[in-house]
This record gives sequence, structure tokens and C-alpha cells, in this order.
Amino acid sequence: MKKFFIAANWKLNGNINMISNFFKYLKLQSSIHSKKNTIIIAPPTIYLERVYKDVSNMNIFLGAQNIDIHLKGAFTGETSVLMLEDIGVKYVIIGHSERRLMHNETNDIIIKKFHLIKESNLIPILCIGETEIDKKNGKTQEVITEQLHDIFKKIGKSAFKNTIIAYEPIWAIGTGLSAEPKDVQLIHKFIKNYIVKHDSIDINDIIVQYGGSINYSNAKKFMEQPDINGLLIGNASLDPAEFCRIIKISDHIL
Ligand code: 13P
Repeated sequence: MKKFFIAANWKLNGNINMISNFFKYLKLQSSIHSKKNTIIIAPPTIYLERVYKDVSNMNIFLGAQNIDIHLKGAFTGETSVLMLEDIGVKYVIIGHSERRLMHNETNDIIIKKFHLIKESNLIPILCIGETEIDKKNGKTQEVITEQLHDIFKKIGKSAFKNTIIAYEPIWAIGTGLSAEPKDVQLIHKFIKNYIVKHDSIDINDIIVQYGGSINYSNAKKFMEQPDINGLLIGNASLDPAEFCRIIKISDHIL
């Protein structure tokens, strides 16, 4: 049976007041309690524990936006996978284009993070996707293949079991220009076909989310596509009313 994974990536947004109002609103919404979907909220690291207090009573899982490549030691300013486990985090976003581009994260760094998460009890949300130039040059599949291939090389055959892949075309993030749902469907199919060729996973167990300028008005068209298993939402996830409306749409599609 299809189940959606709806994740909120708050990025560098939010404060105590916003969090308090956000969950006051969510607690009153029946769709949040329906358990049809998996709902994940990834606030900034500093608010993880604060959000944990709210989500532990609801059908929502806690996500982190990043981890360090080390487990402990002299790495000022970093957070390890062990610390995230310790405070009740379940999912970790890695490979986001904002970290690849603004924090110089290479595929090698992302693979190290992926590996650490796979060795823990946490679940990675691995972001992949092409730039606008890649798209113009017809290189979308090539870029995605490279991003996935590197993971297989290091992790081996069951890399994508119990993993979420988020296809986020970089040109669609925060621009208001979402990709075409039909095009995304083809790319998700491509991703799944590529993975089953290398992984022992059943194709129906591969989870691929779409991310990039999702909002209340366009969410339905994406979720109706057979190979879109969820959404990774930035801006629209900061507004509790809009976020809940998107969850409600997913409940109705199921
Ligand atoms: P927007 O929904 O703001 O485009 O952000 C998408 C994203 O980057 C989620 O990780």
C-alpha cells in the first residue's frame, strides 16, 4: 500500500515563539493524528530537543538537517549521529544542495555521513538532483547516476534499504518554479530502476520524495504520480496551516 513521507525542512528558520504556535496549531488538526502518512519535521539543530517535546505526543518524527563526519572529539561546532540518537532524532537530511554548494560538501563527505547514519538506528534522507545547467545540457540522469553510484561503491548492495531519497532539482529549490510532476515521475522511475539493478531491495520498498517549491496548490499533482512517495518541503512547511493542508491532501489520495 502506498504511504507518503512528508518532511518539513525548516532550514535556518524558526524561533521558540514560532515553534510554540506551530505545534499549538498542529495539535488541533485531525490529519496530523491519522497515522496514514509518515510526517517528519527537521528544525535547526538548536531546537531539536524543544521540538521533540511536542512531537513525542503526536504522529510526527524528528529529523535533523545535518551531521558531522565524526562521532566525537575535537570538532568545534559539530553534532554527531550519536548525539542525535541520544535526543530522539529518527531521520537525518544529508546531501542537500545548500550544503553541497554553500558548505563545499563533496560526494565523498556525503558518503561518509550516509555510512555513519546507516551504521546507527537513524534513517538517512539523501538529497540528490541536478543544477539548471545540467538540466539544460540534458545531464540530469548522468548527475543522478553519479550521485547514486558513489553510494553503492562505498556502502554496497543494501545501501538503499530503509533509506529515503529526496530528488530535489536545484533550480526548483526556493524559486517558486517547481518541476513538472510528469517529468519528476519519469526521474523517480529512473532512480528506482537504477537502484534495483544494484541493490537487493524490492522496487516497491524504494522511497523517493520530491522537493522544490512545493506548496498547497501544486502538492496534489505530485502526490498523484505513482513513483512519488513523499515530499521534502522548505518554505511551505514553515506555515502550519499550509503544511497541514498538504498533509490533508496526501491523506485523501491514499
Ligand atoms: P522549498 O520548498 O522552499 O523550495 O525548499 C525545498 C527544499 O530545499 C527542501 O529541502
